[in-house]
Amino acid sequence: MLSKKMETAICKQIQEELFSSYLYLSMSAYFSNMGLDGFANWMSVQEKEERDHAMKFYNYLLSQGAEIKLFQINEPDHKWKSPLDAFKATLKHEQHITKCINGLVDLAEKEKDRATFNFLQWYIDEQVEEEENDRNIIDKLTLIKENSNGLFMLDKDLAQRVYTPLIPAV
Ligand code: FEO
Repeated sequence: MLSKKMETAICKQIQEELFSSYLYLSMSAYFSNMGLDGFANWMSVQEKEERDHAMKFYNYLLSQGAEIKLFQINEPDHKWKSPLDAFKATLKHEQHITKCINGLVDLAEKEKDRATFNFLQWYIDEQVEEEENDRNIIDKLTLIKENSNGLFMLDKDLAQRVYTPLIPAV
């Protein structure tokens, strides 16, 4: 059984993950309007993955018989200066999410909540991967600068990303 404090902290994390989804949906629209359909696809896949992250927490709370309170989701930005600027904002946001996950792990440790501690390990690995993905794209965009051929090639590359559902829909 989860403590009330842990229950609320995980509900807040659901809010964070759903905000992430909303942010990446906004970025997907931004890229679509620029004609960068591959970038838009990458963000669209990311948006769906974030919903899965939220649902994984949601299902965990249900499995623990916990109460679920859904908090308000803020309005994300909808304009960025450039694709590089958008990916820098993405990395910054993911670094914030990593801090949130680490905070949950600290709380699980403090409360000796082994089940939640164990459950959170998946998110720790996921954050390493997400930050690495963002850094890779930032590196490429930094090399490309204003070169439209390079941007076109990267767009084709990002069009290849495919969404794989994490968990069955509930
Ligand atoms: Fe769910 Fe991108 O962290």
